[in-house]
Amino acid sequence: MSLRDRRVQYETAGLERTDLDSDPIAQWHAWYEQAASAGVAEPNAMTIATIDQNSAPDSRVVLARAVDARGFVFYTNYESAKSRQLAVSPVASAVFAWLDLHRQVRVRGTVQKISDSESDEYFASRPRESQIGAWASPQSQPIADRTIIEARVAEFRAKFENSDVPRPASWGGWCLVPSSIEFWQGRPSRLHDRFVYDLNHATKQWQIQRLAP
Ligand SMILES: Cc1cc2nc3c(=O)[nH]c(=O)nc-3n(C[C@H](O)[C@H](O)[C@H](O)COP(=O)(O)O)c2cc1C
Repeated sequence: MSLRDRRVQYETAGLERTDLDSDPIAQWHAWYEQAASAGVAEPNAMTIATIDQNSAPDSRVVLARAVDARGFVFYTNYESAKSRQLAVSPVASAVFAWLDLHRQVRVRGTVQKISDSESDEYFASRPRESQIGAWASPQSQPIADRTIIEARVAEFRAKFENSDVPRPASWGGWCLVPSSIEFWQGRPSRLHDRFVYDLNHATKQWQIQRLAP
């Protein structure tokens, strides 16, 4: 089917103001649980956009590993392109696309490094081969071919053969601290439901508004 003729009718139930939790993080968890129960692939995957040194946007998928009162935590290489961008411009937006449920959640805010101890704790919970991979991959750097990575994997497997794999200083978590979170529910004829929570920084209260689709 051609791209221009591909159309999905969104017949799912609508979203009303009374359906929404007053706390957008609780609302995110309710939708996340529904996405997970519905069998959505990688329901914690979010596309996160940063801005580079020329103010151009750059985006990629990462996995949210904690979502709580602080915000949305993900882990990555601190020397990757995204981390270098965040070090200069600590702002980002993220999108969760739960397409099977005709839903998306958009998050905008500032980004902070999480504590070393929290990164250590999460790193320790990862499978050993992923831990080795964090040492082996100079994420976002050009490499001539895959054998370079395979050789580095072998090198770090040998180095840590008789010990736990420590977290590399160049690997850890960032937290996207939200200032706005929008919940979008697809409806028939493209007349979707949208509600945005904006944080009033003075009162620390979330204000909810319906937006036109
Ligand atoms: C489903 C999925 C999950 C991913 N999860 C992560 C992640 O949690 N952390 C990460 O650094 N990269 C993750 N990636 C890879 C990133 O999309 C990206 O290729 C990598 O982080 C390098 O991005 P950068 O060069 O902009 O820094 C994931 C990719 C996909 C498709």
